[in-house]
Amino acid sequence: MKIKKAVIPAAGWGTRMLPATKTIPKEMLPVVDKPIIQYNIEEIVAAGIEDILIITNRGKSAMEDYFDRSPELEDALIKTGKERELLLARDVSRLANVHFIRQQEARGLGHAIWCARRFVGDEPFAVLLGDDLMKSQTPVTAQLVKTASETGASVVGVQRVARELISKYCSLQVVPAADRLYEVKQLVEKPTPDQVFSLFAILGRYVLTPRIFALLETLPPGHGGEIQLTDAINLLCKEERVLALDFEGRRYDTGCLTGYLEANIDFALARPDIGPWLTDFLTQKTTKK
Ligand code: UTP
Repeated sequence: MKIKKAVIPAAGWGTRMLPATKTIPKEMLPVVDKPIIQYNIEEIVAAGIEDILIITNRGKSAMEDYFDRSPELEDALIKTGKERELLLARDVSRLANVHFIRQQEARGLGHAIWCARRFVGDEPFAVLLGDDLMKSQTPVTAQLVKTASETGASVVGVQRVARELISKYCSLQVVPAADRLYEVKQLVEKPTPDQVFSLFAILGRYVLTPRIFALLETLPPGHGGEIQLTDAINLLCKEERVLALDFEGRRYDTGCLTGYLEANIDFALARPDIGPWLTDFLTQKTTKK
């Protein structure tokens, strides 16, 4: 199984990050000095994938501008001899082949993925939720792609979450298959306490076979009246093998304020140019006088 395409659904409203997201897509908010979406594009490229579709909606054209060339800015940087800044501006538009399509109504994550069916065609593909940011030794999409390539199965990226948080995610019923790998038997979106199968939840990364599109096509609305990707994967695992990979790495939900702040602090601390300064700053702040 070769995975050549990836889809980033980024058409949600981002209401948890208002007022910033009134005019700025949450995927364009910076973590340190780079928009979140760029980290995800870089994660995809690191998995050997070069064709990427971003699902947007009205008011999110900042993402299209960002991955386009900016000749006026580049000219100004050339004239003023700012070579480092020129590379930073140019590199963004050369990262990958980034395509865009609009989800005309925010009808849920499953519906957003269904909008990618013509772009993807009859091939397996990767999915990265636009506001889930990963910090890992091996890029998380590369971990999933490796497992999917070796097994020919769909693979979802999972980790255990705290019991009090599982109702915000989906819960999976799994049986062990190999080291950190499980067979998915069923899953439920936003479970009530009596519906919880396990504390394993999908955290924003998937490799799916194209069969998912046919299942999404006829899927009725689920939790919250939205077309749920979880419901389609629940049908998929009855027809085909779906694996859950307990991936290595830390996931940040940058779509909420605490996750966004954690990501900024951890990514800044890891940077050699500003990490030591931030450590000193935080130490001064937290040391009692
Ligand atoms: P979220 O529920 O995290 O995004 O959806 P949201 O709707 O923007 O969040 P809030 O609650 O209003 O803050 C998970 C992912 O699915 C995408 C989102 O962009 C996000 O990446 N999504 C969701 C769509 O692309 N379309 C939709 O109709 C819904």
